[in-house]
Amino acid sequence: MASISIPAQKRTIDDPGAVAAYVNEAAGLTYEWWPVEGRLPQGADAPTVLKTYEPEIERLKRMGGYVTADVIDVGPQTPGLDAMLAKFNKEHSHAEDEVRFIVDGAGLFFIRPAVGPVFAIQVSAGDLLTVPAGTRHWFDLCADRRIRAIRLFIDPGGWTPQYYDDGVHAEYAPVCWGPRYLAANAGAPKAGTPAAGGPNARP
Ligand SMILES: [Fe+2]
Repeated sequence: MASISIPAQKRTIDDPGAVAAYVNEAAGLTYEWWPVEGRLPQGADAPTVLKTYEPEIERLKRMGGYVTADVIDVGPQTPGLDAMLAKFNKEHSHAEDEVRFIVDGAGLFFIRPAVGPVFAIQVSAGDLLTVPAGTRHWFDLCADRRIRAIRLFIDPGGWTPQYYDDGVHAEYAPVCWGPRYLAANAGAPKAGTPAAGGPNARP
């Protein structure tokens, strides 16, 4: 399930209801958790993934006006993975919502609200996140560099990043964390805090 880090407040949130409330109040995002246990057969192909989650996908289409859905599947062996990530790990926004349901793997969204501190939300299997059009954000993969996600679009052609040049993303370490990390580091500075060592510092 998703968890949030708010570096400026040295605060984390990992209760699903609290995560949903925070992202919605802070930046208008939608967070939901969908059941995944036992729903997908091992090695399911993209059409099977879409069929399995059809009820949820259709509900989102009705709610958000989305027209198409696909499955993105990337891993360490994906050709051009670094170039692909380089498009999305810098602060940007889109002309339409960025809708992702994570089927497998994990990723880290950083959100820069119009008002209030930057926060990071780590997503993994079962997490649905909708980042509204125009929201400044950036994305990175976690250490295993693997994610499989359902994407929904109004117009895939309109999903082009618009970049911002103030370099805020470089102040935040692209570090993923998990329940074990949170338990082991309770009270200590959290992953995702502004990176020591200057721009582009990495762990
Ligand atoms: Fe994006």
